[in-house]
Amino acid sequence: MSPAIGTLALCVVFLWLVKQTQTAYISALSQIPNAHPSTPFSRLWMLWNKLQGRQNRARFAAHERLGPVVRIGPQELSINCIDDGVRTIYGSGFDKHVWTPYMFTMLHGKGHAERKRMFANVYSKSYIQNSLRLKDISRVIISGRLRNELVSWASHGGTVDVLKKSKACLMDLTSAWIFGLEYGTNFLEDPKEAEEFFTPFRGTFGGFFWRSEFHHITRLLQYIGVHLVPKEAAPCREKIQEWCSAKCVALLATKMNPMSSASQKITDSADYPLVYSQLRGGLENSTLPPEKLERTLSMELLDHMVAGHDATGITMAYLLYELSQRQSLQRSLRAELKKHLNPNPETLVHHIDTCILLDAILKETLRLYSANPGPWPRVVPSEIHVGHFSSIPAGTIISASSYALHRNSEVFPRPEEWRPERWLDASDTQRKEMMRWFWAFGSGSRMCIGSHLAIHSEFVLVFVLVFVQGVFIL
Ligand code: HEM
Repeated sequence: MSPAIGTLALCVVFLWLVKQTQTAYISALSQIPNAHPSTPFSRLWMLWNKLQGRQNRARFAAHERLGPVVRIGPQELSINCIDDGVRTIYGSGFDKHVWTPYMFTMLHGKGHAERKRMFANVYSKSYIQNSLRLKDISRVIISGRLRNELVSWASHGGTVDVLKKSKACLMDLTSAWIFGLEYGTNFLEDPKEAEEFFTPFRGTFGGFFWRSEFHHITRLLQYIGVHLVPKEAAPCREKIQEWCSAKCVALLATKMNPMSSASQKITDSADYPLVYSQLRGGLENSTLPPEKLERTLSMELLDHMVAGHDATGITMAYLLYELSQRQSLQRSLRAELKKHLNPNPETLVHHIDTCILLDAILKETLRLYSANPGPWPRVVPSEIHVGHFSSIPAGTIISASSYALHRNSEVFPRPEEWRPERWLDASDTQRKEMMRWFWAFGSGSRMCIGSHLAIHSEFVLVFVLVFVQGVFIL
């Protein structure tokens, strides 16, 4: 190596060290308590915990020791407060920091807002509550397919994989909402069709840590034969993507094709591909290059289907687990549902606000067993203050998680216990405070778009379960 190159290299290393020292010990971030002695100059503590699958528990423990604002990396903070915390970070539309062109992970606010406008109306509370189409879909899937399955399970007296069946049922509902009944899935009645999706879907999870944290290194190592991500993960992802684009292609060839004039007349029909049509129309009128349209369409819809069945299915499984251990709660729930409704789950959507016990049961499940607990990182665009700390510089990555927010014992006493009563016994002031800290669906412009569909689906599912004899010990 020539002396000039050696000197240059030394200078670069020196400048890098100065920058690291400045960030670690002199910048405004140095005032913030460190989750671990290494966090001012390295992300190792956080990465190690993430790799071990305990990042939320480790962050929460750090907040318990050190307060609502904690440094978890040289330029990374974790927050666990609403005022001067979640409100500032998530209420001001700060950007995400890991990029893909689909809405869930889209980086920038502008592109995200444009995409969201294409279909936000069909996920809104009033649209969901007044949708005749959803009523028909629920009748076929919940009162029909699920009820038949339940009767058969109850009469055989065997064991049922509740998580698997919940996910199957919720995929049928979500995919029908997106593609219409005819082109939606029928995982409940057709386990073979379900496995064609779930087997590759499970395969996509492998190596998530490496892909999300060391994307470029992981790809580079792959070229020299070192596979941090299991080899089967990529083909599994492709399989799932093909599965979804096949649905989109199949729809184009039918009378439900939104471009055909006939489809305009049947938008209330359960077979109408509502979300698909809205999104296709929106993308066609956007600046997206036409050659990218089909892939963007199917990938975006795949995101909705994954979000729609997975988190909702996990929530349902926890809810049933807790409910199955409490006979008197089951009786009270049945009495509530009987009082307010005739036993027609599809009419439940109009009575959601009056079922306060069911609402409390669902809220408590989402609180304690948040299926999408985060953390959800955002990038600070310009200097802000969080908690008691001012001058937090632009470029800092800040995140909160419902896991930690939902365990604030001042707001949710005995937070590790599943107690739906806490929502019923709370005074107005306490309930308001609980709602301020309730963050299962996130908040701000990137809040879950499917929250009302999720709540509707969980409600009708519980309804049918409670009314089919033999499912619970009533
Ligand atoms: C119990 C069920 C569900 C939970 C707990 C949940 C939770 C969440 C959370 C916390 C976020 C915010 C992520 C962030 O801030 O970065 C989110 C976003 C999202 N969710 Fe859900 N979700 C559920 C059901 C659904 C359903 C049924 C759908 C659609 C059919 C859906 C579609 C989405 C989409 C598209 C986003 C991205 C929104 C955006 O970036 O604007 N989710 N979800």
